[in-house]
Amino acid sequence: MQASGAVRIGIPPIVESADPTDAADLACEVRGVTKSFGAVAAVADVDVDVERGSLTCLIGPNGAGKSTLLGCISGFLRVDTGSVLVAGHDVTRWTAHRRAEAGLATVFQTTRPLDQLDVLENAMVGCHAWTRAGFVEAMFRAPWQRREERQIEEHGYHCLELVGLADRANVPAGSLPLGQLRLLAVARALAQRPKVLLLDEPAAGLRSGEKTRLAETLLGLKGRGLTQILVEHDMGFVGSLAERVVVLDRGRVIADGTPAEVREDTRVVEAYLGSATL
Ligand SMILES: Nc1ncnc2c1ncn2[C@@H]1O[C@H](COP(=O)(O)OP(=O)(O)OP(=O)(O)O)[C@@H](O)[C@H]1O
Ligand SMILES: [Mg+2]
Repeated sequence: MQASGAVRIGIPPIVESADPTDAADLACEVRGVTKSFGAVAAVADVDVDVERGSLTCLIGPNGAGKSTLLGCISGFLRVDTGSVLVAGHDVTRWTAHRRAEAGLATVFQTTRPLDQLDVLENAMVGCHAWTRAGFVEAMFRAPWQRREERQIEEHGYHCLELVGLADRANVPAGSLPLGQLRLLAVARALAQRPKVLLLDEPAAGLRSGEKTRLAETLLGLKGRGLTQILVEHDMGFVGSLAERVVVLDRGRVIADGTPAEVREDTRVVEAYLGSATL
């Protein structure tokens, strides 16, 4: 993938939002977003402001519209009405590809690695969002292209370090246990040097120790200034991570506050009635 616009070579900062020249205080703004599938209003007139460097959790019962809202932000889904801004830029009409270049990266719930590649090579795949080499250059391998290859490898390795997988760099990706596969998915997204990282239930199916390691990793990235929006069911996991929780139910925001605040909110309790996950 070749980035359009300004060509940059060299290892870019891992956390672009930490760039002091980036003036926007809000990393992401969702304004009056509605998205329907037939008669189902999956997301209905949702407003969410996400501050730079924050970690915001989106929670809600099954079918509440969490994944749809992430899709509207990443651009994998087109909104019906409303707008999405990233670092102050209105990206509503941009394709997912262009939004990725602008700094949105997604960790999907079902991400699978490229099994035939090792862990480092999988992380390096994410670097292609900002590399200069196209297919022809890769074939002929000009000196600058070899230099860039080294930089991609270093950057990929650095991303593995950030998620604690550097010691697995050379093992086949398909051999990793689920917890490490999720960390690898995070590393690959980091390799895109995102401004905002979107994560859809990254802890689903993980064992308790794996969840703890993932939470520590995401908190470490927050400490480096990376903005994160994370969809999650498990309030225990949310409580260990986020200072802010936005609760969706039937496409609408029904609560927005700290984990302790939303747990006590009557509407949230009603929405989760009978559910063991609150
Ligand atoms: N591609 C689609 N086509 C039709 N309906 C859809 C589509 N995607 C989502 N929906 C519907 O939109 C609503 C919201 O779905 P969404 O997947 O966003 O919920 P969610 O909160 O992510 O749920 P879960 O916790 O189960 O992942 C649901 O009623 C769902 O059936
Ligand atoms: Mg979902």
